[in-house]
Amino acid sequence: MPKTPVIIDTDPGQDDAFAILLALGAPELEVLGLTTVAGNMGLAQTTDNARRIVELAGRGAVPVHAGSDRPLLRAPRPVPEIHGETGIDGWDWALAKQGPAEGHAVDFIVRSVLAHPAPVTLIVLGPQTNIALALRREPRIADNIARIVFMGGGYFEGGNMSPAAEYNILVDPEAARIVLGAGIPVTAVPLDCTHAAPAPVNWSAELEAEGTEVMRACGGMMRFFERYGNAKYGTQSRPLHDAVAVGALLWPELFTGRLCPVDVECAGELTTGMTVVDWLRQTGKPDNCLWLNGCHDPAELYRRMKTALMQLPGRGRD
Ligand code: RIB
Ligand code: CA
Repeated sequence: MPKTPVIIDTDPGQDDAFAILLALGAPELEVLGLTTVAGNMGLAQTTDNARRIVELAGRGAVPVHAGSDRPLLRAPRPVPEIHGETGIDGWDWALAKQGPAEGHAVDFIVRSVLAHPAPVTLIVLGPQTNIALALRREPRIADNIARIVFMGGGYFEGGNMSPAAEYNILVDPEAARIVLGAGIPVTAVPLDCTHAAPAPVNWSAELEAEGTEVMRACGGMMRFFERYGNAKYGTQSRPLHDAVAVGALLWPELFTGRLCPVDVECAGELTTGMTVVDWLRQTGKPDNCLWLNGCHDPAELYRRMKTALMQLPGRGRD
């Protein structure tokens, strides 16, 4: 089977780290590069984190291009209270040997998509600023984008940064509206879906027991990541939101959803950042988004995820 070429736009974040490692370990995907954005942490931190993650995986040749250091119109909203001071707390990370690649993330996205012989899939795991800028800079990229798969939004589950808004969309709602309005096939992996896909309880111990550096790092990150969410929601384990999004690309058979019109509130006093999902198609607007609202086998999802993580060569093996 030909590999699916992907670019991962990301703001690591522990769940981003799992998503990146999963994508690098999955034989079905060809990761053309990572592009970083200000989100969970500032741009310098998310970029350094992305380099540390690819080198941990033994895939240091995968280029990381730094992108936007702020949303299109609004102020950045880092969340160290969720992800820790580094953004990928939970592990004693080795310094990155290599810095980011030359060239802005937006230029890398435009250049790579236009040049690739097959349509490229964009996996978007943070605020969608870079993607919106790339579409504005060169609208022709839409002709060679197979699909945009983004983690973000919430409708039946509401929000996680306000009653109405999920973090990635709230940070840059204007960018999300541009992406959803671009006429490109889009799959949304919102809280409606990720909250139905929590990791197994004590998964961190299971990962650590594998003993490799990659798996011990994943176990440590899982342990750190779930403490905030479990305290907030009173749960025993949390979903790795961004990794679930990569899982939805790899294994769509594990998920449920509906093609329907989706738009983003950008001006509401109480609802800015809300993904407005026309689930019953009452607006008569075009279906612009496959909105995933569930996962019917979380155990299988995380089993497959672990299998992919175990494929990674590990530091220095690239
Ligand atoms: O709401 C969850 C999303 O916000 C995830 O992408 C997480 O990494 C944060 O960016
Ligand atoms: Ca993220």
